[in-house]
Amino acid sequence: MSTILITGGSGFIGSHLIDRLIKDNHRIISLDNLITGRTSNLDHQKDNLNLKTINHDITEPIDIEEKIDYIFHMASPASPIDYLQIPKETLLTGSIGTKNMLDLAQKHSARLLLASTSEIYGDPLEHPQKETYFGNVNTIGPRSCYDEAKRFAEAITMAYHRTHKTNVVIARIFNTYGPRMRPNDGRVVPNFIIQSLKNEPVTINGDGTQTRSFCYIDDLVDGLTKLMFSEIQGEAVNLGNPEETTINDFAEKIKTLTNSASTTTYNDLPENDPIRRLPDITKAKQLLNWEPKTDIETGLSATIEHFKNVMNKTDK
Ligand SMILES: NC(=O)c1ccc[n+]([C@@H]2O[C@H](COP(=O)([O-])OP(=O)(O)OC[C@H]3O[C@@H](n4cnc5c(N)ncnc54)[C@H](O)[C@@H]3O)[C@@H](O)[C@H]2O)c1
Repeated sequence: MSTILITGGSGFIGSHLIDRLIKDNHRIISLDNLITGRTSNLDHQKDNLNLKTINHDITEPIDIEEKIDYIFHMASPASPIDYLQIPKETLLTGSIGTKNMLDLAQKHSARLLLASTSEIYGDPLEHPQKETYFGNVNTIGPRSCYDEAKRFAEAITMAYHRTHKTNVVIARIFNTYGPRMRPNDGRVVPNFIIQSLKNEPVTINGDGTQTRSFCYIDDLVDGLTKLMFSEIQGEAVNLGNPEETTINDFAEKIKTLTNSASTTTYNDLPENDPIRRLPDITKAKQLLNWEPKTDIETGLSATIEHFKNVMNKTDK
């Protein structure tokens, strides 16, 4: 049994990761200031003695008495609706927050996995994106608070590795979806599902020919745990689903799976919204023997069920 610290454990990905690690018999300490997370994501674990939750803003240093073996550093606002509202908090969490977690890792001789993002590739000029691609980011654009926070987070993580030999690894996570996404987090999966369930028009930004790839949460959690418990150090690895879909096709799929009568409306594309985003996961396949297994219909059906339950509860 290892003691694992997770930042952002009350968030979408963090809470699923906690479920998996508890199932695998680890002891978990979660640090979260609930700026975008929800305590309800961990309600089902609240009596579990192997989970300790601490309300803490990681931009403030923290000392943990127990010996920590691993740190999954997941904390950061992650949806455009969040980081456009709280750009300074996003930058400080990625920068000072990451520094504080690296200091903690160093003190405990713990291994740290940084949750980075495909957003570090910006509006990419290379498809699909390999880990060797340096990215195309507008440093003063509206999304820069997130993109540059994560680029800084990667850079300081590598600086600790090179200077102090801190044991680190970086996961570059691509779009992930599944139960516990927030209904109003502004991303296409909750938007399209809720609009379809309510038979309201499905709103697409741009003309819908832009592409995305969507990885189901269980597959991502598999990838994150495989990466953490691997020998890989001081490197970045893409984790995402390499199946590309246009936003138009994705909306149609959701309408079909929800038996919806929704029509489709088109809005302007937000500034600096990438036109294509697609992971090259050759490295993860070769080094971790990992690739997503959940097909889109299965993943979407589970997510649709989740949102049906959420809507039933809020209707009552
Ligand atoms: N969801 C995705 O598709 C996706 C894609 C790429 C990368 N990621 C990365 O994965 C991680 C988790 O994303 P998510 O989708 O679960 O987001 P989320 O908003 O659901 O979870 C983030 C959690 O971090 C907490 N947090 C934020 N700032 C904090 C701070 N200063 N101190 C303590 N806690 C803080 C929030 O309260 C929340 O619980 C993020 O680092 C994100 O950048 C997510």
